Amino acid sequence: MSLLVKRSMLETMQDVIDMLPPSVVKEAIATTMSSKKESFAKIEAIFRKVCSKKYPNKTLSFFLNGWKATHLKMLPIYGLSCRLNTLGFECKNPAQKLDYLEASAFNSSTSHEDLGLGFDAISHGRLYDEFAYAMLKNDEWKLSCYDTKEANAFSEWVYRSMLLNTIPYALCINMVSEFYNHAEYAYSYQTFKYSMEKFYNLQGNALEDAIRYIDVHNQYETEIHHFLAVLNSIQKYEDASGEKITKELITEVINTYIDLILIAFESISKKFGKD
Ligand SMILES: [Fe+2]
Ligand SMILES: [Fe+2]
Repeated sequence: MSLLVKRSMLETMQDVIDMLPPSVVKEAIATTMSSKKESFAKIEAIFRKVCSKKYPNKTLSFFLNGWKATHLKMLPIYGLSCRLNTLGFECKNPAQKLDYLEASAFNSSTSHEDLGLGFDAISHGRLYDEFAYAMLKNDEWKLSCYDTKEANAFSEWVYRSMLLNTIPYALCINMVSEFYNHAEYAYSYQTFKYSMEKFYNLQGNALEDAIRYIDVHNQYETEIHHFLAVLNSIQKYEDASGEKITKELITEVINTYIDLILIAFESISKKFGKD
């Protein structure tokens, strides 16, 4: 068995694009994501590199710390919903008020699974801890000595943008994040399944438990549902505010998101030696 991943991230993304009805969002995502093909190839190569041999625990700790920083964005999602709630509370027009509050409700529904709502209150944060523990047998990866500056910068950009940038910009970040994550989890599931079986002797139920963090996103197509929920949130926000999310804005957010996450991955990858 060698580390071969059958489907590229872009191929997984294309399935989602194909199921969307014609719209500005579909057009912007299709064009801009395919223009980032080389970035996705680099990210895929990093996942394969991290999972292709057994590295010292300290090296893998840099990946586990940094990868977590690029995910688990419950706090910024909550912040954006609070902003939409405030617009709804302050709105005098009943129809507009309802649209703002529904925009908030759709947006906040993108954190339900991450919280463990409907899943016995087992959060994705806890599943991530279990995923890391299955390989390292300790929690050392959480220490700040394993931080990667660029991964923290990505996390900070997401948080600050979703709380401080315009609401359309913040909604676009959530949308792009869910869309991107769907493809990244589909890809990384294959690479981590390989490494957990081969280097950490995890099989059967033990393997299922260990890789559950990634698998829950694949098995239930969680991120596709979240992506569609953000599209509903955008629709409600547009109805309430009269603003339109433009193709230019979506393109700008995709480019920034992918460029920053690639910088984060490349910095983490340096800890794993030369390619
Ligand atoms: Fe999640
Ligand atoms: Fe999500």
